[in-house]
Amino acid sequence: MRDLFKKRILFFGGKGGVGKTTCASAMALARAKEGKRVLLVSTDPAHSTSDIFEKPFSREEREIYPGLTGIEIDADFEARRYIDGVKEQIAKLFSSSILKEAERQIELASTMPGVEEVALFDRMGELMVTHMDSYDLVVFDTAPTGHTMRLLRMPELMASWIEALSRRRRNLMKFGQNIEQAGSEPDPILATLERRKEKLEGVRARLMQHNFTGFVLVLVPERLPIEESARTAESLRDANVNVCGILVNRVLPDDLEGDFYLARRRQEQTYREEIRRRFAGYPLMWIPQFETDVYGLKNLERISEMLARPDNSAPLG
Ligand SMILES: Nc1ncnc2c1ncn2[C@@H]1O[C@H](COP(=O)(O)OP(=O)(O)OP(=O)(O)O)[C@@H](O)[C@H]1O
Ligand SMILES: [Mg+2]
Repeated sequence: MRDLFKKRILFFGGKGGVGKTTCASAMALARAKEGKRVLLVSTDPAHSTSDIFEKPFSREEREIYPGLTGIEIDADFEARRYIDGVKEQIAKLFSSSILKEAERQIELASTMPGVEEVALFDRMGELMVTHMDSYDLVVFDTAPTGHTMRLLRMPELMASWIEALSRRRRNLMKFGQNIEQAGSEPDPILATLERRKEKLEGVRARLMQHNFTGFVLVLVPERLPIEESARTAESLRDANVNVCGILVNRVLPDDLEGDFYLARRRQEQTYREEIRRRFAGYPLMWIPQFETDVYGLKNLERISEMLARPDNSAPLG
C-alpha cells in the first residue's frame, strides 16, 4: 500500500493553477468512496472547492458526498473571531482602567497584514488537533506555495515571539514585585502565553509527525513548476515536513496526433525524465491532461479512480 494512503492528514500544495484543488478534491473523494470519513478543508481565500463539487461549501462542516465533509475556511470571519477571542482574554486580565486602551490597541492591530494568516493557521491547527477522532483523513487544499510555506513556518515564528513576550513579562514582574512576592502568585498573562505556546507546539508536532501528516506537491510537467517544486520540496524537508507524493498533473496523453502535439509531447518527455531524476526519492503519481476543465462529480471521479490505482506511479511514458 502506498505510504500516502496511510496518512491521516494530507496537504496539497504547489504553484498557482497547477491543479491543487482538483487533486485534493479527487483524493478526498477517492478515500470517501473507500468508506473512510474524510474532511476536505479549503484554506485558499479564492475557494474553488464549491465549484468543483458543484455544491456549496460553508465555513461550517457540511456533507458534500456520502462520507465526505467539506469546509471552506473564511479568513475574514476567522480573523474577527480570533480578535474577539483575544479581547475576551484581556478583559479577564486587565483592570477596566486600561482595558479600553488595550482594546483600542488590539482593534488597531487587527487591521495589520498577517492577522488573517494567524487566524487561518489557528483554525487549521484546531482542525488538525481536535477533529482527528471524527475523521479518518483530513485533506487541506492550500493556496499557492509562498502562502503555504509561510503558514507552515508560523508555529516556529510565533513560538519565538511568545518567548520574547514572556521574557519581557517576567522582567516587568521582577521590577514590580519585591523578592518575597516574586514567583509566589501564578501570573495570568504568563499563563495565557504559556497555553498559547503549548497549543502551537501541538500543531507543530502534528505537522512534523511523518507517519501521520504528509504533503503532496502538485506540479505540471513544465520548467518553472519543476524548479519551484524542487525548491518547495527542499524547504519542506528543512521544516521537517514529510513530502509523501509528487503529483504530476496535466500530462499529455500518448495517443495524440499532429505536429503541434508531437512537438509538445517531445518537449514534455524531457520534463518527465527530469521529474523522475530530480524527485527520485519521492513517490510519483501521474494524471493526464483532460479534454475539458475538471468540475462536477463525473470528471472528478475519473481522477479519483486514477489516484486510487495502485500502479499510478508507473504509467505514462
Ligand atoms: N488534469 C486536468 N485536465 C484538464 N484540466 C485540468 C486538470 N487539472 C486541473 N484542470 C483545470 O485547471 C484549472 C486549475 O485547476 P485547480 O483550480 O485545481 O488549480 P489550483 O492549483 O487549485 O489553482 P489555484 O492556485 O488558483 O488555487 C481548473 O480549471 C481545472 O479544471
Ligand atoms: Mg486552488
